[in-house]
Amino acid sequence: MGYTLQDFCRDTREILKNGSSRAQVEQVKTHMERLLVDPQFLAEYFNDQHPQGLKRIYADSQLGFEVMSYRYDKARSSQPHDHGDSWAIYGQVTEYTEMAVWERTDDGSDPDHATLREKTRYRLNPGQAGVYYGRELHSIAMPDNSRYLRATGTDLETIERLRIDAKSGRVERIHARQTGAA
Ligand SMILES: [Fe+2]
Repeated sequence: MGYTLQDFCRDTREILKNGSSRAQVEQVKTHMERLLVDPQFLAEYFNDQHPQGLKRIYADSQLGFEVMSYRYDKARSSQPHDHGDSWAIYGQVTEYTEMAVWERTDDGSDPDHATLREKTRYRLNPGQAGVYYGRELHSIAMPDNSRYLRATGTDLETIERLRIDAKSGRVERIHARQTGAA
């Protein structure tokens, strides 16, 4: 029995209508991993006509979560960033993503500068998904021809997010979608 985007969005709605704790977002991740290996889903959303960059493939009018597909022919990497208060789930389709989780070692008192420490690092391979919850700082790096799916609790363009240069510690506030932000 196949598992469609509509199935995933229905299951996600069922979970999130009762709240969006980390445990509930982890449940959504389990469903995403079913979707990531469904041949019909992949044929429909990750075929040769799949556009470069990001594409919103679902937005929930009631609960506000959304699902985006990503395709990049060239290798990419991001600086550590958060998604404001929104959770995010990244699910790998082709190639892999190196995921790093960072924590701040400063006291947060300087709005323009932070110091960071890498806490964990792991690799998402096709069929695997990873959760970032709340203001968890993370960075991603991927080789050529990477494709992945991302679900977020809300449209990130509507909330303030932080991006921090890992070397200089410079803090940047992001208010709109930028090509470099992931
Ligand atoms: Fe991200």
